[in-house]
Amino acid sequence: MVEPMEAKPALKSPAPPTRRAIIVGASRGIGAALARRLVAEGYSLALLARQADLLDALCKEINAQAGETRASYYVHDVTDYDSVPNLLKEITAALGGLDLFIYNAGIVFPSGLKHYEFDKDRRITEVNYMGALAWLNPVAGLFHRQKSGQIVGISSVAGERGRVGTPAYNASKAALSTYLEALRNRLTRRGVHVLTVKAGYILTDMTAGRKNLYFAISAERAAAEICRAIRRRRQVIYVAPIWRLVMFVVRNIPSIIFRRLTF
Ligand SMILES: NC(=O)c1ccc[n+]([C@@H]2O[C@H](COP(=O)([O-])OP(=O)(O)OC[C@H]3O[C@@H](n4cnc5c(N)ncnc54)[C@H](OP(=O)(O)O)[C@@H]3O)[C@@H](O)[C@H]2O)c1
Repeated sequence: MVEPMEAKPALKSPAPPTRRAIIVGASRGIGAALARRLVAEGYSLALLARQADLLDALCKEINAQAGETRASYYVHDVTDYDSVPNLLKEITAALGGLDLFIYNAGIVFPSGLKHYEFDKDRRITEVNYMGALAWLNPVAGLFHRQKSGQIVGISSVAGERGRVGTPAYNASKAALSTYLEALRNRLTRRGVHVLTVKAGYILTDMTAGRKNLYFAISAERAAAEICRAIRRRRQVIYVAPIWRLVMFVVRNIPSIIFRRLTF
């Protein structure tokens, strides 16, 4: 006698697991564009910056678009270094883990060629570099232990040479790029990916009103290129890509000429 065959349940492909990301410096500009993009790619997000009203509006926009809560915000000043370890614990508990960390916070002050102001230089260093260290250390420790994760640092082509206009900004980005390279070399063997983004001119508040923004692109286009690099696990990218060639030339301009240039 032949047993009746049981109907096989239809095969369902499992829903892709939600990935979890933190963006530090997410209230506007490149950070906000990255937030919109990453949610579209399936991430749940914790967004950090100082301006609560901007973060609140961004989360409302993202969550309304997604039809569910995909972004929450935490008001945070990156120079409040001591608060970072506990805040990181609180956020990873709320997200249920962490897959991607982006350090995007950054500032620059226009400075005339005759000004030498320690206060401004200190502030730039504290936000662009010290704040990065405060976050990258505990995040790297977490990813080291869990043997997975992706770290992205938004650096700048400005870090590749010391230019007359913004010495402390250039130095802060040089330090950030070098630190990220060292983290990559440490963490690659643990399966952790580190991406350095060397941005050229991007049209945001940071560049508003400035002239001669060569090869400038929108924050949305920058975010799209950064997200592609995250997916492809690239190590260093230039945004826009033309800056790779431009900086090859700039890096090779002899000092005797470079020190006469006014940019
Ligand atoms: N725009 C460019 O041409 C360009 C070129 C190369 C590199 N970059 C880098 O790209 C990153 C993003 O710049 P952007 O152009 O998008 O500038 P932006 O529009 O001025 O945004 C800067 C972001 O950093 C946050 N931030 C600043 N100080 C902070 C602090 N003390 N604590 C916490 N968050 C802070 C701001 O949030 P709150 O004000 O709400 O705190 C904001 O979300 C920066 O690291 C910048 O150096 C930009």
